[in-house]
Formats: sequence, C-alpha cells, structure tokens
Amino acid sequence: MCGIIGYVGADQVVPVVLDGLRRLEYRGYDSAGMAVIGDDGIRILRAAGKLRNLEQRAYHEPLYGTTGVGHTRWATHGAPTEANAHPQVDGRGEIAVVHNGILENYAALRRELLDDGVELASDTDTELIAQLLGRETGCLAERVLRVLPRLQGQYAVVTVRSAEPDTVVAFRQGPPLVIGIGRGENLVASDVTAILHRTREVVYLDNGEVAVVRADRVELLDAAGGPVERPPETLDWDAGRVEKGGYRHFMLKEIFEQPDAIRNTVRAHLDAERSGVIVDGLGIPADRLDRLRRIHLVACGTSWHSCLVGKFILERLTGLPTEVDYASEYRYREPLLGDDLLVVGVTQSGETADTLSAMELAAAGGALLATVCNVRGSSSWRLATARMLTQAGPEIGVASTKAFTTQLVALTVLALALRRARGLADRLDEQLVRELQRLPLAVEEVLRTDRALYRRGTEILSEATDSLYLGRGILYPIALEGALKLKEISYLHAEGYPAGEMKHGPIALVTDGFPVVAVATATATRDKLLGNLMEVRARGATVLAVAEPEADDVAEIAELVLPVPTVHPLLQPVVAVVPLQLLAYNVAVELGHDVDQPRNLAKSVTVE
Ligand code: G6P
Repeated sequence: MCGIIGYVGADQVVPVVLDGLRRLEYRGYDSAGMAVIGDDGIRILRAAGKLRNLEQRAYHEPLYGTTGVGHTRWATHGAPTEANAHPQVDGRGEIAVVHNGILENYAALRRELLDDGVELASDTDTELIAQLLGRETGCLAERVLRVLPRLQGQYAVVTVRSAEPDTVVAFRQGPPLVIGIGRGENLVASDVTAILHRTREVVYLDNGEVAVVRADRVELLDAAGGPVERPPETLDWDAGRVEKGGYRHFMLKEIFEQPDAIRNTVRAHLDAERSGVIVDGLGIPADRLDRLRRIHLVACGTSWHSCLVGKFILERLTGLPTEVDYASEYRYREPLLGDDLLVVGVTQSGETADTLSAMELAAAGGALLATVCNVRGSSSWRLATARMLTQAGPEIGVASTKAFTTQLVALTVLALALRRARGLADRLDEQLVRELQRLPLAVEEVLRTDRALYRRGTEILSEATDSLYLGRGILYPIALEGALKLKEISYLHAEGYPAGEMKHGPIALVTDGFPVVAVATATATRDKLLGNLMEVRARGATVLAVAEPEADDVAEIAELVLPVPTVHPLLQPVVAVVPLQLLAYNVAVELGHDVDQPRNLAKSVTVE
C-alpha cells in the first residue's frame, strides 16, 4: 500500500525524501507528498498522480530543511486528489502526518471533530490523526501517546511538528515501519528498500510501539510510554538489488533473476554434502512434529497460487492432508484448528494484512505457525515459530515473479523436511534434491528461448480481449498464475481454469481465434489435457502451449509451443510458469502499459 519515508539528519531532506519515495513508489502511486520543517515552520508539497508530478513541483518550489516526511499513496479514504494526498496537517498547520492504513472509527472521529467545529480540509482518515494531535498539548511524543488509544484499525504513522524541528515520531498498529540507523542521521520507512542505500542497520517497530527519532538517537516506547530496548539488526540485502541494473523494467530483471534466486533458496535450505534437507533450519519443535496430522496453507494473490501447488507437493511427500485457503476467507470462516495442525502463511512481503490475521487466528487456536516469507524480520517472520526464508532478494515489480518460484522451491523443501522428520525419506528424496539443484539451469534454459516465439505469442494475446489458461493437476495453479500475470499488467481479461472443468462453462466463450494458453508439460494427466485442447480447437480456438520441445503431440494441436526442459513432475510448475511470465510481460509492453506499477494494484496490501 502506501510508501512512507521520514528523515532527520544533516542532509537537505528533500532529495532524501524524493529518493526514498522513488524507491517506494511500487507500493502506491495515486498521489505523493512531503512535509519539510524549515526556518518558517512546516512546508507541505503534494501532487496528485505519479511521483514525477511531485518531483516537478519540488523543482519549481524548492524547500529547505533537514527534517521531513514523505508519502506515496494508494487511496483508501477519498479520491486520489491533491487535497487528499499526504501529508495531512492539523488546523494550525503545525503538525504534519503521513499514514498507511485505515482507521476503522473514521466516521465517529470525523463526526466528533466536525461537531467540535473543526474544519476538515480533506476526506481522509489521516487528517483526523493530524487534527487529534493538534488538539493535544505537550511534545509530539506525549501527544501521540494520548491519541493512540483513540485510534482503531490499522495504521503506520509518521509525524513531525514545527516546534520540534529535530524530531520525527512514528507509531504503528498493523502496517510495518522500520527505522534505519545511520551515522548522524536516522530514517523511518514503510519498508527497507527506501533506506537500504543509506544504512543496513535497522530496528523494526512492533505493533503498539512509538519511536522518537532524532539525528543522534532513537527511543522506543511502549503504548504506556515505558522504554523498550531492541538492538538493531543488520540486513543482508544490498542496495544494488533494488536498482533496475540495465533492464527496462524491474519485472523483467526479476524474471531473469530467477535462476539465482532459486539457486540461493536451494542452497540456504539444503545440505548439498549430505544431499539432505536441513530440518533444524525450519525451527519446528520436535514434540510438535510428532503431533502433526494436518496442514493449512494461507496466502493471497500469487502466493496463494504457490500454496495450490504446495498442496500437491506436501500431500504427495508427507501424506499429511493439506488445505489451501485465501487468507481473507480463512480469517472469517472459523477453520477447525488444533495442536495437530501446521498453518503456513506464505507471503513475499510478510506484511499482507489478511495473511497476518489468518496466522494470528491459527496461533490463537493452538496451531503451529510457520511462514514461507521473503523478508527476514517482517511481521509474518516474527509471528511464526517455524520460518523458511525465500532468497529472492527484494522484489519491486508489482507482479510477483521470482518470489513465486522461490516459494515453490521453499514449499518443496518444507515438504522434504517434514517427510524426513516423519521417517518417510527414501530414494525419491535424493532424486528431488538433485533435481532442485539442477532447477536453476532448467530455468536458465527457458530464459534463453528464441524471442521470435514470444513475439508470435504476444501478437496472438494482445489482439484478443479475453483468453483462457488451462492446466491440470499440479499445473492447474500455473494456469491460474499465468492468467493472473496477464490480467495484472496487460489489463486483458484472462481466466485460469482446470482443463477438465472447462466443459462446464468456459468453453462457451470459445469462438474462432479465441486464445487458449495450455500448460502442457509431461505429467500423468497430459493426455487428458490434450483431449481438452482438441475440444477447444474443434471450436476454433488458437492454442498456445508450454511444453517440452520434443512433445510432438502438443505441437500438433498448438499454433505455438513455448518450450521448457524436462524436470521432475513435482518441479514442473517452476519451469512452466516462466514462459507465462514472459508472455504477460511482452503483451503489457506491447500495449504500452506501466509494467512495474500497474493500474490500481499495490505491491504490499497492508490493509484488509
Ligand atoms: C498483492 C501483490 C501480489 C501478491 C499479493 C500477496 O496483491 O500485488 O503480487 O501476490 O499482494 O502478497 P504477499 O506479499 O503476501 O505475497
């Protein structure tokens, strides 16, 4: 959702804030703004639309000061206009607030302020926080501690006050905030990508805590104002990984980073010498392992698709019944919990609000909590007892790619670890470990595919308004993911379906030239899938298929085959998704869309 940056130090704050916002723009891009404390109080600049509009304003209306905050917005309350952009200020213009989240008692607070004669300048819930702070007395930290109990909902807030030009105060309940500890300067941000180039020493703020940040020190307080001690952590990401590195878009760079991301994830969790899984690394207590009878996987978006694949892998390798839920449904459906249950929250960011709530619910119900997550120190990381880090590195493109394939690898490793712990390991495990180690090479091969094939595929898809993606078995989630990728960045309608179910509805869409994209690598159900493709072909569909180059039977049916090498059936989703990522990317570029910042989407959905 929204991106937040705060700075206090010796440098001019405007370039620091704009630079931070540029790195955060992938989180939200409806409008942007900043507040700077200068000699004559707080000055605010805001602009609707993308960050470049704010940059232009900052160029024409320079602001000077060394303390300030910035924000890039994904609208919740109020349209993405300049008036609703952040920062929002109190009635006297002395306190500026930037905010990520939603105040659930927005209506009641708004009514109360209006009844008290307060004139509100925006439709935002954020302005209410600024007004409440403005009506308190004392220093900013004292005001925050008094206002905190009045706020219901989810918020990550950073605020400055003109009378305290050397202080930034931050507090959160839900969406994340991280404090960057620099030399003679300190920063606050909604995620580490905004500050990595200035420092790798960070402190994560916990829910209910307040951080009082000055250039030379950071004080953490609990909600009652008591001191909190937490030493900084050192991040292992380096700043170069959040640059485009010569690629036209982050998404393309991230697609091409997949071999390394997979290699790093495999290496982090497998002991190559003993060709075994490092079970200890998962942190599942032995007594809990004995009691384990069931698994639930919860996630959102692309991560949910990796759970659908994970179900096949976990059930096949561990024999444990595995259910998959959308986190947003799980948290309200009263799932059957218990201490025989492992609940795995799968999340790239570790900050998706619904996934975190689903995990909290599961923990409260006695389940053992695990996470497959790409961000060490994130909220899901801190919630879970057992943790598997995907080593994808920072993912900036809103459409997830390398996080997805590394999640598939991590779920396979998790399955192998549980299998070993349950005494089931046999020669299949050794084979899978070898295959996992070979997997980066297979993905490299996909990335070397002749571009002409993608040009043809791009032509077919970009000339249509709808398409159907089909797969079966473990590849059916890949059809869903391929369709989602296309929808997210090309804005073309695409529907993913299990091929066997296609006759119960979607086939009605098929007319002459209707594109059907089939995930047709060699699994036990490929013949069945080919039968389904014959049915759509008979009705005029143009079939595009992902398959092994030697699969003549697929080539006979398909207009175009995007080739992938042969890998173990349980790992086919990893190689099969890559052509679909490239296809969606090429279609979006062809149609002239902003690939990294697609319309209405946000990288990290930190509100319900
Ligand atoms: C958003 C992103 C998706 C992502 C989903 C879940 O919708 O745009 O790319 O798959 O959130 O995010 P998570 O960080 O929990 O994996």
